[in-house]
Amino acid sequence: MNVMEADTLNIEGGHPLEGEVFVRGAKNTVPKNMVAALLTSDTCVIKNVSHIVDVDVMCDMISAFGGDVAFTDDHTLRVTTPSLTPIPLDQMGDFAGKSRIPILACGPLLARTGHVIIPALGGCQIGNRPVDFHIEALKILGAKVEVHETYLEIFAGHLRGAKIRLPYPSVGATEQVLLSSVLADGVTELSNAAIEPEIMDLIAVLQKMGAIISVDTHRVITIHGVKKLCGFTHKALPDRLEAASWACLAAATKGRIFVRGAEQMNMMTFLNAFRQAGGAFEITEFGIEFSRAGETLRSMVLETDIHPGFMTDWQQPFAVMLTQADGLSVIHETVYEGRFGYVEALKLMGARIQLYQKCLGQISCRFANRNALHSVVIAGPTTLKGAEIHIPDLRGGFSYIIAALVAQGSSKLSNMWLIRRGYEDIAKKLRAIKANIHEE
Ligand code: EPU
Repeated sequence: MNVMEADTLNIEGGHPLEGEVFVRGAKNTVPKNMVAALLTSDTCVIKNVSHIVDVDVMCDMISAFGGDVAFTDDHTLRVTTPSLTPIPLDQMGDFAGKSRIPILACGPLLARTGHVIIPALGGCQIGNRPVDFHIEALKILGAKVEVHETYLEIFAGHLRGAKIRLPYPSVGATEQVLLSSVLADGVTELSNAAIEPEIMDLIAVLQKMGAIISVDTHRVITIHGVKKLCGFTHKALPDRLEAASWACLAAATKGRIFVRGAEQMNMMTFLNAFRQAGGAFEITEFGIEFSRAGETLRSMVLETDIHPGFMTDWQQPFAVMLTQADGLSVIHETVYEGRFGYVEALKLMGARIQLYQKCLGQISCRFANRNALHSVVIAGPTTLKGAEIHIPDLRGGFSYIIAALVAQGSSKLSNMWLIRRGYEDIAKKLRAIKANIHEE
């Protein structure tokens, strides 16, 4: 299966959007569940899977490893890898150029073949995005890592449990340690680990497979290595990033959108901020309905942070919503140094946003002296006008969709495949909330 749809979206904006959309399994969990499936030769079943590019990339990668992948119409994915065949560097490059997930395949490949080659990684260009924590952790677990100009080559007879401390609670590096240490000899203690719900979901999958993992206080995760893991059946965690994007769209356009599948528990920080900005929501057992509480939205001060803070992936749609709020809003981005690239196009659409290198917030942040434009001040409310925009990254891309739907007049968005990396059936969902769109 491959997500093939038009690459340009024409949008006629300026109308409130009303209706219902659904969210399925998260882009940032399902591909990792699929990597976990490589740790066993048993069949693994993942339900509630979205048809998105990042899942396609993983399906193709598992097929290239010699595994069987079946994705059925009921959004269920079955993965079986009786054996794993390493992929040559040039072929592996095709996968890595499209996604950051291949680096997470190190653990399973080392456990089952003793050798892995990982080319330069893809993913959104939202900052430097190094993989030094991953490499260091693999070395501490006993792998031999050779860093070449365009690829990494990693060997291991057998990994051994160890104490690892991450310099920053990186989601990917925490997943790397989990996936590499579950089959290692002995105990691994990972401190300063990420504890995002997406991490907890991966731990839940690994526990179903037979792993012994405890999450202790103060970001310490302890993994007791086991000899063998078995298959699992798992319902994927709903995408809290996508749910938040629809919420911001509802409030920004003075609309009302019911997001079927959205869950309160993993969105509490977002819901608090949304309410503070004048958004309203009603939580039901089937999803959450988002709208405005009154006529106007309120400006606010916001900082992105690791869990349980306000997610960096919520920042872009929220910023567009704040262009419609009364007064001056401030956002301090502390997770990625380059996550305001999308702001320039918003300015062309009439948004009044000023970028700053200074930390406009209280969180002690790694970007203070890096000449990185990582804070913004947004003046609102502004009347946005339609524009032609080339989508730069996934979350920035969805924020342009919101801006185009708020704006007066027509907009043309190209490079839509980037949106399909993480948002399923985007045009169908936009039509379901009565957006005036046309695909090319
Ligand atoms: N970092 C390093 N070295 C490393 C790893 C990370 O310096 O070896 C730094 C990064 O540069 C960044 C910070 O640590 O400044 C956090 O990065 P993290 O590793 O947590 O991010 P990630 O695992 O690469 C995942 C999501 C991102 C999401 C972040 C933060 C996936 C595939 N991606 O990235 O999602 O923003 O966690 O929650 O899970 C998105 O969905 O659009 C997206 C970018």
